[in-house]
Amino acid sequence: MSSRPRVGAASTPAPGKLSLPELGEMKRRGDKLTMVTAYDAPSARLADEAGVELILVGDTAAMVMLGHDSTLPVTLDEMLFLTRAVTRSARRPLVVGDLPFGSYEISDEQAVGSAIRMVKEGGADLVKLEGAGRMASRVRAIADSNIAVVGHVGLTPQSATRLGGFRAQGRSAESALALLDAARSLEQAGAVAIVLEAVPAPVAAAITERLDVPTIGIGAGEACDGQVLVWHDLLGLYAGATPRFVRRYAELALEIADALGRYVADVRSGSFPEPRHTYAIADEELARFAAALASAPRQ
Ligand code: KIV
Repeated sequence: MSSRPRVGAASTPAPGKLSLPELGEMKRRGDKLTMVTAYDAPSARLADEAGVELILVGDTAAMVMLGHDSTLPVTLDEMLFLTRAVTRSARRPLVVGDLPFGSYEISDEQAVGSAIRMVKEGGADLVKLEGAGRMASRVRAIADSNIAVVGHVGLTPQSATRLGGFRAQGRSAESALALLDAARSLEQAGAVAIVLEAVPAPVAAAITERLDVPTIGIGAGEACDGQVLVWHDLLGLYAGATPRFVRRYAELALEIADALGRYVADVRSGSFPEPRHTYAIADEELARFAAALASAPRQ
């Protein structure tokens, strides 16, 4: 049990908005939590309508939205821009704003400042940051500022270089124990949920069993209290490599390519637009227009 229960920004929810206690209740009942990333208003609305409990405005935006080859370059201002779009249209789900690399590592003060901007300017209900160790102190400082914070351990893409690449974590007894310690330290620091990324299923199960706060897995097996997937992976929208933990529920990139190809062909062939795609003008108005053109010198 966390020794420091937190009153997060999401503890006084807008009407219809889920609350943090409801997420805790879901864990206790064994009901699975669903989280998906989103980076714009229409996607957030669709995720809301699908009934997800949590929307993560992830720093994966750097790769899937902004064309970078890692999550490192995205800035806090860019994340705020995307988060605002999501929070404008998500009603029921809690929106988690991801703190990007460089926005919380320097000091607890920097972390609190960034988290406050994410809530005040981005409208996020919660913030997320990666790592444990010194980052537990950041989590505590943010939680002490009454902002609900989600931890993230296992494969933490912001430190992929130090981890030796995008590799699963917790695959030896020592590193599995270290992951459990890391997750516990974040819970004790006040994290209200922990993302477990690319962790063997039995290790994630043991961590989930030992924490009071929900775990949200991505490549961490079915025993986690919830699951998260990246929008573009789930929907087949991302051209880069797909991690093994992804299940694609659609191939939207193929559908979009097909639709765009047909549009280009239709414009070139003259089959689009048709008369019904434009607007009528009364005959007498058209006649007056033609007369005015005829009497005016051609420019
Ligand atoms: O940024 C992100 O999308 C994430 C998920 C992969 C959990 O952190």
